[in-house]
Amino acid sequence: MTIPNTAILVTGGAGYIGSHTVRLLAGLGRKVVVLDSLVFGHDRAIIDPDVELVVGDVGDQDLVRSLFKKHNFAAVVHFAAYAYVGESVTNPLKYYQNNTAEPIKLLQVMQECGCKVFVFSSTCATYGVPDKLPITEANQQNPINPYGQSKLMVEKILSDCDNAWGLRSACLRYFNASGCSPDGKIGEDHNPETHLIPRVLMAVTGEIEYLEVFGTDYDTPDGTCIRDYIHVEDLADAHIRALDHLSAGGESLRCNLGTGVGVSVKEIISAVEEITGKTVPVKYGPRRAGDPASLVADPALAKELLGWVASRKNIRDMVGPAWTWMSAPNRGRYPPNLISA
Ligand SMILES: NC(=O)c1ccc[n+]([C@@H]2O[C@H](COP(=O)([O-])OP(=O)(O)OC[C@H]3O[C@@H](n4cnc5c(N)ncnc54)[C@H](O)[C@@H]3O)[C@@H](O)[C@H]2O)c1
Repeated sequence: MTIPNTAILVTGGAGYIGSHTVRLLAGLGRKVVVLDSLVFGHDRAIIDPDVELVVGDVGDQDLVRSLFKKHNFAAVVHFAAYAYVGESVTNPLKYYQNNTAEPIKLLQVMQECGCKVFVFSSTCATYGVPDKLPITEANQQNPINPYGQSKLMVEKILSDCDNAWGLRSACLRYFNASGCSPDGKIGEDHNPETHLIPRVLMAVTGEIEYLEVFGTDYDTPDGTCIRDYIHVEDLADAHIRALDHLSAGGESLRCNLGTGVGVSVKEIISAVEEITGKTVPVKYGPRRAGDPASLVADPALAKELLGWVASRKNIRDMVGPAWTWMSAPNRGRYPPNLISA
């Protein structure tokens, strides 16, 4: 019996961005299989009963082969990676292994099985310190840490695979993912949490004593760093569009996913205070090495190629649902995994 190739393999689908994308895909009736090691993922983040969660590593070729044999995947969406920039500096091999070497093993199985559609979680960290703002895809890619480098290497590998065996890929360079589903059923639960919005909210709930702000003397209007915060559901939508583009025979692409709106650390603190009605305990400290003053996307290419535009551009649209998630009885944490990693 021939298995129709409509199923999609989503690696890292039990993580933050992956789970929101899986939920959207499943809601559209797509057949989804998640492969996640659960090193950082949460089995309870997969809430659609039709989605199969397989616990394992993307570099386990026997496992991936067996999944291809069973499902004959039409496409792979690859979220699985480690994403702690600081740790990548102190332990680079861990990042090159998991973020670069493991995907190579996955790509080898895809090549064997004739699967030629790949959507990849890339990052604005591949640009390093931008040579101009807003950042377009024409900016130089000069990562300043092994995390960004490990992702850029995969972008290059994907381009070579396109030339060699026709793998078509979408490298989606996310800026700062934020927010969560407005119904509060799934959300952001990293441990440790390093992302700004959840940390500001953790300072409000008392989970951390105060928010440390790194640097108030940047060349920005209020002296604090500026970033581009993109809602996780807008990211999920871009993945569907990228999948549809490639599945319809579209060419490989690389594009930024951001709002194009820069928001400072102080502006986030103000938004959190407005939404929660509470004062954020803050400690202002010196700059942190390697933090560029401003990282803001020019998202025009994603609009041109995928018809994608961020639907939420106001920072309150990111902070509001994140606060719903963090102030719920679970306080922004999933219960322990039922399946062990
Ligand atoms: N969160 C952001 O702001 C952001 C920005 C730019 C790029 N990214 C990229 O987006 C992707 C998803 O980020 P996230 O915030 O959802 O991270 P996350 O840690 O929540 O999700 C990653 C998932 O991948 C799984 N995983 C890691 N290595 C694996 C492996 N070898 N095999 C199987 N599963 C593995 C983890 O268990 C986790 O569930 C990552 O590739 C990250 O580098 C994230």
